Amino acid sequence: MEDNLGDFVKSSVNMRPFPVIGLGSGMAAYTVAKMLGTEFKKLGVKPNAVASSSQIKFLVLEYYTIIEPPINGIDVVIDGADEVSSINNYIIKGGGGALTRERIIWEMARERHVFITKEKLSKNLTHPLPVEVMPFAINLVQKKLDNLELKWQLRKDQKGYPLFTENGNMIMDITYMNQDDLRPIYGKVKLLPGVVDAGLFIYDVHLHII
Ligand code: A5P
Repeated sequence: MEDNLGDFVKSSVNMRPFPVIGLGSGMAAYTVAKMLGTEFKKLGVKPNAVASSSQIKFLVLEYYTIIEPPINGIDVVIDGADEVSSINNYIIKGGGGALTRERIIWEMARERHVFITKEKLSKNLTHPLPVEVMPFAINLVQKKLDNLELKWQLRKDQKGYPLFTENGNMIMDITYMNQDDLRPIYGKVKLLPGVVDAGLFIYDVHLHII
C-alpha cells in the first residue's frame, strides 16, 4: 500500500515517453487526474488519455487529449473505488455506473493506481455488487437472480426512474452476506445472458489512501 500522492504524480510526470493515461470515473479519479494534468501542463505537455465516461472526459479535457483505447494499451490507470478489502485484493467498483469501461481500461493497463479515502477500506466488504445488464435482458436476469436466491435492486435516478449507463444499459445492485460469497456470485452472474459486467475487480493495484 502506498499513500504518497506526490510521489505518484512525480513518477508519472517523469515517465518517458509520456504515458498514456487511463481515467476512471468519480471524484477521486478526477482529483488525481487534475493534479497530474496540472503538472503536465507546466511542461507544456497534453498526454493522451482514455476516459471511462463522458463525465471524466469533459472534466479533464483541458489537460489530456482524449483518445479511443489504443492498440498498444495504457500505461497508467488512475481510478477510485467504492470499497476495497483490507484482507484480500477484492475491489468493488461501479457505484458511478462506469464499471464496464473501467474494467476495459484496467485490463489494458500496465499499472493501476487506486485512490480512496480510508473509510472505503474494509475487512468485510458490504458495498452492493453493481451489475450492468442490457435492458432487453432485464426480466430474464431478474428471474435468474431470484432463482440463485440473490437479493437485488434495480438502480434508479433521483426521480425514481431506472438509471441507464453510457452504454445504454441498466444497473442492478446485488447484496450479499459475506465477502467470501462475492467471487462465486460474480462468477455466476457474469455468465447470465445479457449481463455485460459486474463490479468485482481483482487485480494487482497500487493502493493510495488520500
Ligand atoms: C464508477 O463507476 C466507480 O467505480 C467509481 O470509481 C467509484 O464510485 C468511486 O467514486 P468516488 O471517487 O467519487 O467515490
